[in-house]
Amino acid sequence: MDDVTLLVNGAEHKVAAAPDTPLLYVLRNDLKLKGAKFGCGLGLCGACTVMIDGRKALSCDTPLWAAVGKQVTTIEGLAEDGVPHAVQDAFLAEQAAQCGYCTGGMVVAAAALLRENPQPSREEICTAMARNLCRCGAHPRIIRAIERAADALRP
Ligand code: FES
Repeated sequence: MDDVTLLVNGAEHKVAAAPDTPLLYVLRNDLKLKGAKFGCGLGLCGACTVMIDGRKALSCDTPLWAAVGKQVTTIEGLAEDGVPHAVQDAFLAEQAAQCGYCTGGMVVAAAALLRENPQPSREEICTAMARNLCRCGAHPRIIRAIERAADALRP
């Protein structure tokens, strides 16, 4: 066990954990941030998606040491000053959640996509979201929501 300082959603947290502990475990078990979900634990489903320095990362497949000194953003940290992120608004407007298990990861992945590519084509959205799985089959609404968010963010 090492004492590690993590920067999550703009706040510093001290955690005692082995450096190779999956970031997801630290977020959920130590910091009680339950928005990132355990789906497959193998980097295959996207339920655990967070951002590290603004880029999409699968937290089940990211060792703690890889997040040290970087900015980790979870679904809980996406809103700013109480104002939901455009992707959050769009997911609500399009009713893009079904059971909701994948939704946190989907929203963070979509927000990361729009940071890198604010006006993606439908094909680019599908490619970017290909590793975020929804077993309910809400993908058409999810894609529409991302397009809606991109429209809302259009300058
Ligand atoms: Fe991390 Fe499935 S739980 S990708």
